[in-house]
Amino acid sequence: MQAEIVVLPGDGIGPEVTQAAVRVLREVGERYGHRFITRQHLIGGAAIDATGEPLPAATLDACRKADAVLLGAVGGPKWSDPQAKVRPEQGLLAIRKALGLYANLRPVKPHPAALGASPIKPHLLNGVDLLVVRELTGGIYFGDKTRSGDTASDLCTYTVAEIERVVRRACELARQRRSHVTSVDKANVLETSRLWRETATRIVRDEFPDITLEHQLVDSMAMHLLAKPREYDVIVTENMFGDILTDEASMLAGSLGLLPSASLGEGRVGLYEPIHGSAPDIAGRGIANPYATILSVAMLLRHSLGLEDEAKCVELAVSRALDDGQFTGDLAGGRPAIGTDAAAAAVIRQLQIECHAVVMRD
Ligand code: NAD
Ligand code: IPM
Ligand code: MN
Repeated sequence: MQAEIVVLPGDGIGPEVTQAAVRVLREVGERYGHRFITRQHLIGGAAIDATGEPLPAATLDACRKADAVLLGAVGGPKWSDPQAKVRPEQGLLAIRKALGLYANLRPVKPHPAALGASPIKPHLLNGVDLLVVRELTGGIYFGDKTRSGDTASDLCTYTVAEIERVVRRACELARQRRSHVTSVDKANVLETSRLWRETATRIVRDEFPDITLEHQLVDSMAMHLLAKPREYDVIVTENMFGDILTDEASMLAGSLGLLPSASLGEGRVGLYEPIHGSAPDIAGRGIANPYATILSVAMLLRHSLGLEDEAKCVELAVSRALDDGQFTGDLAGGRPAIGTDAAAAAVIRQLQIECHAVVMRD
């Protein structure tokens, strides 16, 4: 097949991890005979520096026309002045909104070889396989923001339609897994959460009677996620709770550098990005973990291009690289570590073995 993929490197380690992931994508193309045309565009701080805007029109146009978008990360100290009028993060929010990407899939499946990198006891991690479906285009992120004198306000709004569509998406995904959905809210305090709970209950009752639905308050969820992570299958929640819970969940896998994501809507184009940020503390040193971005490429192959074999192959190659002890600093626990490029090379080496196996099996 032929596919056009827009690559948005962004800031900090964004360019380093996307470059590594594009190398892997190219290898997949060569091995399976696909033509992946990649074009880079500006977003975030890099776009502010070049054009004054965090999401230039040319970038959004290119994304709309593409088959999929691969993003690194945006933001950094250079653009973090609280008084700043434009911010890199606005570019990310704007692209999610403009492409209608309301469902952000964040799978968490600790790898046996990386259990040592997690602060959680290994016996709690065996068999953990959960998927957080984070609502991505509503809630407090997109409500009116005001500042007047010594008062600031961020409005949190949800409509029934916004809740329905993301809950439906979570239930459809749960049907392909263990058919269990945990809906997370703060219904004991927030009106938006009461609407969320009511709507989730109705959708599951009327449309997904085969799904078991459980409600959980977000504060205790934060605790249960570490105490009994194996018990969760699909977790669906609003925008900010999903943001926070998934950084927490990355500690089950051992590092933020291991968690990929797919942002999907009803439209054709999906956006794929690691859940981590631009990691200014390690940027420019070639030591960032590229596995989360490479695993985001696997999600891109699966969800946007329908290339399931190729997606599995990338996941297997990352898994084998980890089995082989190919750890970047975030996973190495003080032992000698490899850099970003070497990690990509390790995945490509495994791809050369594993993809061959998949092609042979077919
Ligand atoms: P961060 O995710 O960038 O980093 C948190 C910690 O994790 C840092 O110590 C970092 O070194 C480490 N880390 C993250 N990714 C890693 C990787 N791939 N390999 C090794 N270590 C990694 O979060 P932060 O420091 O709170 O935010 C920094 C900037 O990134 C902020 O401007 C924030 O707005 C932005 N951000 C962007 C995105 C995004 O573009 N999707 C996501 C989160 C944060
Ligand atoms: C993420 C990030 C973003 C978010 C920021 C940078 C706007 O933390 O993708 O998880 O909060 O959605
Ligand atoms: Mn986040």
